[in-house]
Amino acid sequence: MRAISLFALVALLWAGRSAAQYGTSGVLTLSGEGPAETGASMLRFLKVFETRLGVPARITYRVTTSVAADASISADVAAQTAASPSKLQFAMTEQPLSSAQRASFSGNAAVVGSSVHFPVYVNSYGLFYNVPGNRVTPLNITACLAARILTGDVQEWTHPDFLDKNPGFVKTGTDSYKITVLMDTATSGSTLAVLGWLAKACPSVPVTYTGVRADAVAVGSNMIASLQSTGYSFGFAMGSVGRAASVSEFAVETATAGQYLQTGSTNTTNMQVALAAAVPTTLSGDYSTATVVSLSADRVAPILTVGYLVTKSDWSTEGLEEGQRGELVRALCAFFQSSTITSSSTGMLNDAGLLALGSTLVSAVNITASSVFVSHPSAVKYTTTDGVGANVVSSTRSSYEVTTYQDLTAQMAAMKKQLDVGAARVMRGVGSSAVSLFMWRVFGELKGRSTTPLHMVYRAAGSGAGQGEVLAKANKYQSLVDFGASDTPMPDATFTELTNTAKVPIVHIPILLAPMNFFVNIPDSALPSRLIKMSPCTIAKIMQADITSWSHADIAADNGGVALPDQPITVFYRQLSSGTTAVITEYLNRACAGTWRLGSGGLLSNWPPTFKPTANAANMSTSVFTTSWSIGYMDAANGLDVNLIEVAVRNKDGNYVTSQTGDVPAAATALFKSDAWPKSPLLSFASVSCLNQPGANTFPIVAMPFMFVRTDLTSRGDSGALLVAYLTFMLDTFAQNTIAKALGFEPLPTEVRQYTTERALPLLQVDTRSKAWVFESGSTLSGGKGSTDNVISGFGGNYENLNAQGFADFYKAYNLAQNRAQATKAASGGNSTGSGSGSGGNYTAVLSGIPPDLIDQLDNLQKQVDILKAVAITAAVFGVFGLSLAIFTSCRMFVHMSLWGGAGAAGPGSNSMVHPASISILGSNGGVRRQKSISNFSVGEGSMGSEKSV
Ligand SMILES: *[C@@H]1O[C@H](CO)[C@@H](O)[C@H](O)[C@H]1NC(C)=O
Ligand SMILES: *[C@@H]1O[C@H](CO)[C@@H](O)[C@H](O)[C@H]1NC(C)=O
Ligand SMILES: *[C@@H]1O[C@H](CO)[C@@H](O)[C@H](O)[C@H]1NC(C)=O
Ligand SMILES: *[C@@H]1O[C@H](CO)[C@@H](O)[C@H](O)[C@H]1NC(C)=O
Ligand SMILES: *[C@@H]1O[C@H](CO)[C@@H](O)[C@H](O)[C@H]1NC(C)=O
Repeated sequence: MRAISLFALVALLWAGRSAAQYGTSGVLTLSGEGPAETGASMLRFLKVFETRLGVPARITYRVTTSVAADASISADVAAQTAASPSKLQFAMTEQPLSSAQRASFSGNAAVVGSSVHFPVYVNSYGLFYNVPGNRVTPLNITACLAARILTGDVQEWTHPDFLDKNPGFVKTGTDSYKITVLMDTATSGSTLAVLGWLAKACPSVPVTYTGVRADAVAVGSNMIASLQSTGYSFGFAMGSVGRAASVSEFAVETATAGQYLQTGSTNTTNMQVALAAAVPTTLSGDYSTATVVSLSADRVAPILTVGYLVTKSDWSTEGLEEGQRGELVRALCAFFQSSTITSSSTGMLNDAGLLALGSTLVSAVNITASSVFVSHPSAVKYTTTDGVGANVVSSTRSSYEVTTYQDLTAQMAAMKKQLDVGAARVMRGVGSSAVSLFMWRVFGELKGRSTTPLHMVYRAAGSGAGQGEVLAKANKYQSLVDFGASDTPMPDATFTELTNTAKVPIVHIPILLAPMNFFVNIPDSALPSRLIKMSPCTIAKIMQADITSWSHADIAADNGGVALPDQPITVFYRQLSSGTTAVITEYLNRACAGTWRLGSGGLLSNWPPTFKPTANAANMSTSVFTTSWSIGYMDAANGLDVNLIEVAVRNKDGNYVTSQTGDVPAAATALFKSDAWPKSPLLSFASVSCLNQPGANTFPIVAMPFMFVRTDLTSRGDSGALLVAYLTFMLDTFAQNTIAKALGFEPLPTEVRQYTTERALPLLQVDTRSKAWVFESGSTLSGGKGSTDNVISGFGGNYENLNAQGFADFYKAYNLAQNRAQATKAASGGNSTGSGSGSGGNYTAVLSGIPPDLIDQLDNLQKQVDILKAVAITAAVFGVFGLSLAIFTSCRMFVHMSLWGGAGAAGPGSNSMVHPASISILGSNGGVRRQKSISNFSVGEGSMGSEKSV
């Protein structure tokens, strides 16, 4: 009986002992609490820990703040009695317990032992800003400057003490640069970390939470979004969080004076060495004064906190179940020291944007822990070696939830990568139709050279749209385009509204040079030399009908006294809004101010009634071409393409030059060297003009179209990086010297391109998460890397651009032929059946002056069109099979006719000659540029056109 009783007792004790691991309810529960900054990460760590344990345990975790967690655990311990054990077994905190809080552990007779601060991780906080134009080179800040910003002593970013640390500060000169301070709550981890740092690093400027300037904006946990949306703001957050959101981060002065560092650049080796010296390893001592801010170590970001697990040291006198919880807390501490958490490459701290303490500190803590923690004598111990036992925290034990989460994360990352590779990078622009052909052909060139698919759209909706859609007033200044383009700079009013009212800085990017001029139709019999000179005032007088006859003395005076016949001058003007009108009227305004009365602008309403309107650039050149004794204005390429006589205009230095005999780039060089060129690309360009520039041979009527680009492209994802690549390419040799010239434009001079590349492009802030573009030229990206993503290869190309010379010549020849035929027809009174003339008539007669091989090609083309026409008609007669053949041949005909302007496009008697503009689908101001032939086409110019032999 006694034996039986003893057995029963032993069995009972054994049963009680076993039950401890499972808790009274079959699951051992553990409660914790900790700060929100690391809340999600901690929940994940705890879930993995639970899963690795062989017995069922459930850990609940309240996500609050470090301050609240400290208060909770000390209050809980203070309230503990023998009958009512603690409700909270551990707290996570970045703010060690105060001495008073710690005293609640020892002040309670029911609690044996003391508080434990078990260090788990390091958190690095950063200071952030949103100061437009100042992203590329991080702004520098010291503790005392930060303190003075918070107290309101320093109110502007342009304060001399701030600029002193930031010689590279970029300012537009128009803004007030008032600092908006953004504040998190008083008890947030980042507020306490920053105030703790300031207390140590700048004791001379004390800052308390309530002492922060009264107009600081309380944004709570919404710090990142607030920084992104508030211009000129100052704030702080966990470094890894700000980095992930691409907010501009200060380089903060470290404990080494004069050394400035962002959180991501910390040398972790040095940090861990310094931490081992700074963090106490007693675990049970008073940690209230322990601090790790401003560690004296090379290249260590200064605003650091250590995350501690706070718990009780002695679990031996608690009930067995509570004692078993104590073992679980110890096992959790061991888990936090395992490589699962701490590994610098695969550790979970790394994923969570936190830093590991380093092996020296971890070992020291591990050693102390074995003597500081006192276990319940009957509690079951947990081991961390791998194995199948119930009390093992096994690294191979997992759960569906944990592995699925890991799988999903990995799969999503892989899918995102695939999407990134397969998806086209998108860029959208809008603006001037005059530069549209150039834009489209540079797009084509980039597409042919890019290893990643591109989708780039330029809507030739006019210069007004180029300005308006970048301003985007109707859309609360949120622009939908990546850039706008315009024949003229952004007007002052628009610029001021954008930069001052909407606080959106932009840069002006010059695109190319477009010479424009006046062209005349004077019969060769009256002007065999095909040379006519005019001073700006002679032109002004003609253009406002002060001079109405070609025999006028002023014209004779410009031409050495030789008078032309007394023929009335027919003047053509552009009746719709036109960039060309804006340029030539502004030229007359500048070059003949005293005489010119009609003003300037894209649309004049006061042209003399005798003048004749034309709808667009194409109509203008054909009108002058078909009208003897007429004059009109157009971009030079348009006039030259139809072989009109270009007026030699007297330039500022008194010499007569055409766009062919004068120097076009010299106009931009002179402007660039003058005071009129803005000192910063961020300033207004409203009064910047290439017109009437000095220089012996400078051509005076040159337009410089601009792109407008907002400097803050961070919200535009990958489009920002693509735009930067596009601009880089557009300003380089191939686009300027080959593409622009093939279209009849002139390249920007080197100085202007260099200035733009070196001064304007670095101001563009792109989303740092998007992959930058790399330019491959002959010598770079060896080892086959030229085929990786986001490469623009010097070995790629675009058939059309490589053959631009051939296309341009053929095109010009065909145009000339068509136009001459039209002109001959017009001269013979519209009789298209007359001998040797007419649009469908004798080509040979009108092709004089065109290279013979091109005439052959034209003949062949005409024959092909004739044959195809015949085949199409025949096939149509032959039913179903014929129908498909008819469709096929008709399509080919259409392609031919479209490509070359359409043999049948010019109807009899119509004034619409064959013109490329007529086949472009454009809006009302659709006067696109046309190709112009150039003589020395060559590839292989510059770093990007480095194609030498393929
Ligand atoms: C910040 O200081 C570094 C030198 O530590 C300097 O190179 C950099 O230009 C400064 N940043 C600015 C914006 O001036
Ligand atoms: C960190 O600093 C140490 C000592 O100054 C140096 O040897 C080491 O290369 C640095 N590590 C990195 C990643 O820069
Ligand atoms: C901690 O110490 C124990 C022995 O007391 C050892 O087994 C364990 O590996 C140590 N952990 C770390 C992270 O050093
Ligand atoms: C066109 O020219 C032909 C041949 O010279 C002539 O017979 C005919 O009358 C002319 N038609 C017109 C409208 O001038
Ligand atoms: C076309 O013009 C050329 C040169 O003027 C001439 O030799 C030829 O006979 C003309 N052909 C026709 C069909 O009129």
